[in-house]
Amino acid sequence: MTSLIPSSDPWADWVLHGRDGGCRAQARRTRAAVAAHAQRLLTLAELRAGMVLADVGCGEGLLSWQAFAMTGGALHVELNDVSPRLLRRARAFARLQRRSAQCRFAQADATALTHLADASVDVVALRAVLAYVDDKAAALREAWRVLRPGGCLALAEPVFQDAALAVAEWRRAVQFGSSHDPLLPLLLRWQGAQYPSDTAAIARSAICSHNERDLLRLVRRAGFGRLHLELHIDQRPAGSDAWEAFIDRAPHPLAPTLRTILAERFDATERARLVQALRPQVEDGTLEADDRIVFLVARKPG
Ligand SMILES: C[S@@+](CC[C@H](N)C(=O)[O-])C[C@H]1O[C@@H](n2cnc3c(N)ncnc32)[C@H](O)[C@@H]1O
Repeated sequence: MTSLIPSSDPWADWVLHGRDGGCRAQARRTRAAVAAHAQRLLTLAELRAGMVLADVGCGEGLLSWQAFAMTGGALHVELNDVSPRLLRRARAFARLQRRSAQCRFAQADATALTHLADASVDVVALRAVLAYVDDKAAALREAWRVLRPGGCLALAEPVFQDAALAVAEWRRAVQFGSSHDPLLPLLLRWQGAQYPSDTAAIARSAICSHNERDLLRLVRRAGFGRLHLELHIDQRPAGSDAWEAFIDRAPHPLAPTLRTILAERFDATERARLVQALRPQVEDGTLEADDRIVFLVARKPG
């Protein structure tokens, strides 16, 4: 269970548990979705056999394993992450797939890729990483430095700003009494614990301060050219098969789960009311949420 008390490794907690709520079926769906995103991204990046790929914020290395599958295995991959636990898992996966000799692992921040030499990489890929980095311009400067001329920056990043703006609208409706929906204050307490919900907090937040056009501007400002952006919006059932798994999930690594929020921010009556309203919609799949993913590729001028 995630807590409102910060964990020492929120990234590993979320990737290994909070993303799927401990539900195996949901974990399979997540892996399939990540593989599809990685495939789309590496196709846009024109990754080919013989290249050097940097998988920045690699997590368990799902993007790298997809890259090996796509190229027939003839790659060198540089994997880095800030989470020691996720790096250990990525190393173990590499051993299992007999890819250790083609992989190098480093515990490093996206803003300081000191293990990589200037102009040494063909493709720098970040999948669901830049969204969480405070200093995005610094991460893009590092990508630029390590890319060879003509090399490709490849981003596949979730966009959370719209979710935060929707919660901010709920907050205003509750504050100014413009909604008569008795459930709205409870929905706001739930979603307001997972997303910043006033304009100043949204602007300060690493994960919500930007939308796809802001990313485009940042990449252009970092000096990249030949930009291509695709915004994919997919509306999917927000719930998984089981209520227990749904309340153990969080929409991003920095958010508490609904189970924690119910325990820490609701009294028994409020808890019963929210559960009574949400649970049937989760279980019959009518509660939906938008997945917003930006695919953005750009070249360092050659
Ligand atoms: C949502 S996971 C994505 C993992 C992986 N890229 C994938 O596609 O499965 C976010 C990852 O970013 C890593 N991360 C967060 N902040 C980072 C930073 N400043 N530098 C490098 N990695 C970071 C986390 O440890 C985590 O592995």
